[in-house]
Amino acid sequence: MKTPASLLMLIDEGVIDEVLRPLKSGKEASVYVVRAGDDVRCAKVYKDMAQRSFQKRAQYQEGRKSRGSREARAVASGSRYGRKQQEAEWKNAEVDALYQLREAGVRVPEPYGFFHGVLVMELVTDAEGFSAPRLGEVELTPEQAREYHAVLVRQVVRMLCCGLIHGDLSAYNVLVGPDGPVVIDFPQVVSAGGNNAARTMLLRDVNNLTATLGRWAPELLDTWYGEEMWELFEAGTLLPDTPLTGQFTPDERSVDLDGVRDAINDARELALIRQQGREAQDED
Ligand SMILES: Nc1ncnc2c1ncn2[C@@H]1O[C@H](COP(=O)(O)OP(=O)(O)OP(=O)(O)O)[C@@H](O)[C@H]1O
Ligand SMILES: [Mg+2]
Repeated sequence: MKTPASLLMLIDEGVIDEVLRPLKSGKEASVYVVRAGDDVRCAKVYKDMAQRSFQKRAQYQEGRKSRGSREARAVASGSRYGRKQQEAEWKNAEVDALYQLREAGVRVPEPYGFFHGVLVMELVTDAEGFSAPRLGEVELTPEQAREYHAVLVRQVVRMLCCGLIHGDLSAYNVLVGPDGPVVIDFPQVVSAGGNNAARTMLLRDVNNLTATLGRWAPELLDTWYGEEMWELFEAGTLLPDTPLTGQFTPDERSVDLDGVRDAINDARELALIRQQGREAQDED
């Protein structure tokens, strides 16, 4: 196993003592099990910017506040400095979110810091101490599925109360620990207030959870927690412990302006793509 240079720097600096084994290499990062003193932890080493999907990020970054106008201009210009800046922001987004969410009582891995592009955090384990399985890899009883669903919906509410939406929540970004589910993988976290796509992303996150857990408890498939919590959030009345019913009746009188705007934008985009297609044909 070739240890990444960034992990060697962490050993040099005494942040960790040893790399025990690679855990998983995902699309955007490689995760290692490491030892720091007597503690076993995990280290997430982010892959290079070039290997990640740019398009995905453009949408996510819409709502993220840039640090200052110089940075914002640099990012917008796509210059070398801009790319560096954007890379730093991308990597920091996950660390920032973990600290903020821990503080707000959301069950996420405890962060121990961010060094040389490496996030050191709690290793989530199962009851035997092995790295925890993902929600999509376990078999559940209907009772467990209902319980996990309730717990996860509450985590999503708490995140929303922090102004954050996970943005990539699925059975593969939830680990199953002995005390229940733990949400992981936050680099794409989006701000709930400043992004046109926020509602869509929230509903997609909740729907992914519901679809996964609905396999074990089909009655969950008739619930509308995402819609319900978004309505309360927009009305400014959503609190971390606000009880939810899962029932939701859309308000016929209120026009869904975001929906209208999205539809218009989609139509525009489609027209543009068709136009480009026609122009390409003309050139042939
Ligand atoms: N704190 C943790 N404790 C235990 N296992 C973890 C932890 N963080 C990550 N993992 C494992 O590493 C895998 C990849 O981590 P993560 O999802 O954060 O990175 P990723 O590169 O975005 O992955 P992907 O693209 O596959 O979603 C997870 O699916 C999980 O199995
Ligand atoms: Mg992941």
